[in-house]
Amino acid sequence: MVRKIVLYPNAILREKTIPVAQINEEMLALVDDMIETMLEKDGIGLAANQVGSRHRIFVLNTTPHDETPSPVVFVNPAILGTDGEMKEEEGCLSFPGLYLHIPRSRIVRVRAKSLYNEDLVYDAQELLARAIQHEIDHLDGVVFIDRAVPEEQTTVQEYFEQRSKEAS
Ligand code: CO
Repeated sequence: MVRKIVLYPNAILREKTIPVAQINEEMLALVDDMIETMLEKDGIGLAANQVGSRHRIFVLNTTPHDETPSPVVFVNPAILGTDGEMKEEEGCLSFPGLYLHIPRSRIVRVRAKSLYNEDLVYDAQELLARAIQHEIDHLDGVVFIDRAVPEEQTTVQEYFEQRSKEAS
């Protein structure tokens, strides 16, 4: 089932999510829905709090559009190490239409559990590394505008001015 995406400034996007103690039926259903929602919205990643859940889970799909999606689930993810720097353009399903160049580490090593309770370690770089950092930020209550560089603060301001004009 495709779930409704929570848009900023909904308060749940500012909350730190809670580590999952045990994968149960509710979480399997949540993950199914998160993957379906991410693919339907053409997102690269989606964090549980973006669909209104407080579990520390995110999903990713960095497969190019013309290929069969192969989504990956990260339960209780944590960054173990980082290296290098990059600054590439990012978007976020909770901020439709906003794109910002966000400084990130170029390489990350991340630990997470799979849905089968396996402990996995991923070494990621470039797009995958960026997506992982963006989604872990979400799970910590951090959104990408928090990391906007000074040169793009105006872009963020104009985005919200436009949004409030459209809403009124
Ligand atoms: Co996002």
